[in-house]
Amino acid sequence: MEYSIAVIPGDGIGPEIIREAKKVLDKVGKVCGHSFRYTELLMGGASIDVHGVPLTEETLAAAKKCDAVLLGAVGGNVGVSNWYSLPPELRPEAGLLKIRKGLELFANLRPALLFDDLRKACPLKEEIIGEGFDLMVVRELTGGLYFGERKTVIENGLRKAYDMLTYDEEEIRRITQVGFETARKRRKKLCSVDKANVIDSSRLWRQVVKEVAKDYPDVELSDMLVDNCAMQLVKDPGQFDVILTENMFGDILSDEASMITGSIGMLPSASLGKTKLGLYEPSHGSAPDIAGQNKANPMATILSAAMMLRYSFDLEAEALKVEDAVRSVLSKGYRTVDITSPGSTLVGTDEMGDLIAEEIR
Ligand code: NAI
Ligand code: MG
Repeated sequence: MEYSIAVIPGDGIGPEIIREAKKVLDKVGKVCGHSFRYTELLMGGASIDVHGVPLTEETLAAAKKCDAVLLGAVGGNVGVSNWYSLPPELRPEAGLLKIRKGLELFANLRPALLFDDLRKACPLKEEIIGEGFDLMVVRELTGGLYFGERKTVIENGLRKAYDMLTYDEEEIRRITQVGFETARKRRKKLCSVDKANVIDSSRLWRQVVKEVAKDYPDVELSDMLVDNCAMQLVKDPGQFDVILTENMFGDILSDEASMITGSIGMLPSASLGKTKLGLYEPSHGSAPDIAGQNKANPMATILSAAMMLRYSFDLEAEALKVEDAVRSVLSKGYRTVDITSPGSTLVGTDEMGDLIAEEIR
């Protein structure tokens, strides 16, 4: 079969990690008899430098025509040094929000898995890791604070800024269904995380989750307040199977979970909507501090490509091949700088990509 993939390297370490993911995909194609056709598109800083905006309508339309989108990272802008002062709609990250919304990708799956060979890279004590760590964060992606009305005004001579956090029940229902369906295929435990003791949108969240739960009697549901969840993740991470939560809480909690897997460079993600067209990207950002130095860990991006094979192309066996290849390279002791430990062999971004591609047979 032939699959068309919109490839958006982005900026910062984006182009470096995307190169390695394509290497691995090409090997999967060769070994399994598929052909992956890539359409390279600009976003983030790379697009600002050429078009003055982080994502053009033409780029969005081109992405919509493909079977899936593979994205590197955006954030570190090459052309504009002081981009924090740019208006939000012109910042590199605005491209990310626009493509998520434009493709209606409301469900963000972020699996945080501690590979056995990386237990030493995990900052938690052995007895806290226990039998291991295997969590799926299901994060709502097109609502909440990141998409609410916002403005900055002067009131009584003071600068004042607003960000609105809104959810309607349909937005909550559809992500909750994804949460339950995901838990059903795993250990059948769903923890819904909110701040229902303080904010209204969370109270509605909790009500809707309880309503949807009636359709999933086989899944054990619990609720947790987000501040407690942040504590529980480092105190007893093994208690979680699937965490279901809104946009910003999911952003923060998944970064916290990534540390338990050893590095943010290990955390892939899939952003899904109602159709098979999904967007796949590492959970980390553009890492401007290490960009262009062949230091970035490409595993999160390669594992995201595996999720693309699984969710957009229904190529489960091929996805497993990629995940096994990552596991195998780790077991042989190869590490990028973010996950290195005594006795391991330090490799660069490109060599890590070569090693993983080689393992696919
Ligand atoms: P970041 O994730 O880019 O970096 C945080 C730390 O992790 C840095 O020390 C970085 O070197 C390290 N790191 C990240 N990815 C790595 C990898 N693959 N291998 C090894 N080390 C890695 O987050 P930061 O620094 O807060 O943000 C940088 C820019 O990225 C900002 O402009 C931010 O808005 C943007 N960003 C973009 C995202 C995206 O494209 N989806 C997500 C998060 C942030
Ligand atoms: Mg984040």
